[in-house]
Amino acid sequence: MSIRIGLIGAGAMGVHHGETLAFELGCEVAAVADIDLTRAAALADRIGTEATDDPISVITDADVDAVVIASADSTHEPYALACLELGKPVLCEKPLAPQASAAGRILAAEQEMGRRLIQVGFMRRYDADYRRMKAALEAGNLGSPLLMHCVHRNPSAGADFHSAWMITSSVSHEIDILRWLTGTEIVEATAVHGRSVLEDIHDPQLILLRTSDGLVADVEFFARAHYGYEVRAELVLERGTVSMGMPSGLQVRTDNQLVTPVTPGFVERFAPAYRAQLRDWLVAVRSGRQDGPSAWDGYATAVVADACIASQSSGGPVPVDLPTRPALYH
Ligand code: NAI
Repeated sequence: MSIRIGLIGAGAMGVHHGETLAFELGCEVAAVADIDLTRAAALADRIGTEATDDPISVITDADVDAVVIASADSTHEPYALACLELGKPVLCEKPLAPQASAAGRILAAEQEMGRRLIQVGFMRRYDADYRRMKAALEAGNLGSPLLMHCVHRNPSAGADFHSAWMITSSVSHEIDILRWLTGTEIVEATAVHGRSVLEDIHDPQLILLRTSDGLVADVEFFARAHYGYEVRAELVLERGTVSMGMPSGLQVRTDNQLVTPVTPGFVERFAPAYRAQLRDWLVAVRSGRQDGPSAWDGYATAVVADACIASQSSGGPVPVDLPTRPALYH
């Protein structure tokens, strides 16, 4: 059975997903939709499909079996709900929604359906380094994890990429990976702000997360770090440490320096993970058994993000008020 995909959003991620689906995974993209028709048409041309500026028409198209949502964050909710109403599987880019209340509405709608149709684009779970880190943790010989240090830096960001958006859009990756690695929920979040490169936006930010069994993680997120894109993490365990993400690859020795490249952006750093994510999602769509990052994971992350944002205002630790995980997601 060949699966026909509807793709919503033709920005940076939409282009990457569309090209990966069409050129690397040999998948049929039935149509590309974006409110910016020029963008949709450029991508559709390249991958040989139709373009429209009406995303709902793609979702309701009887020839579309499953949908990838890669449009702006605030648009995920209406499109995800429209897909659920028709029982169509969705790969929805992170965040599931920028506010926990909106993510909760999607979660409630999916529970009403009684089956998992949504996968959230937490693609770091498919990254080889993070997988090795999880395997090292689960091997058990290093003991229990005590601390986690995370670094997440982008070279640049738009002037509108504000302090709260930095949490929902970017720190959400670390929130998800901490939950996934440790298999625990986060119970408290604290935002620490010091010197910033801007006057009205906290950049960089330091976020402290505490899990239900007492592990503390610090997350440095720096959106305007200039030099390149970097994601690093280190787990400190009872009998050793596990770290990942150091720049690797070509080493050039010249003029008394050792030079190693740093990836310029997230696409270059995580291309294999985006591809593996899409591949596993297609397998899940075909089998009808969804086991990737779920709507619950999207919701839980959004609840933690809300707490981080509340802490940006209060300046102190904020408890995370997460309900019990529903049976559908056990
Ligand atoms: P972008 O700004 O490059 O593209 C967003 C696209 O959405 C634009 O073409 C815009 O015209 C379109 N759009 C806006 N409103 C729309 C609507 N109502 N209906 C249809 N299209 C609409 O942004 P980018 O970087 O491509 O991000 C897209 C999504 O992917 C976001 O949710 C973002 O958070 C997520 N993302 C995920 C990453 C990951 O590592 N998993 C990395 C970067 C982005």
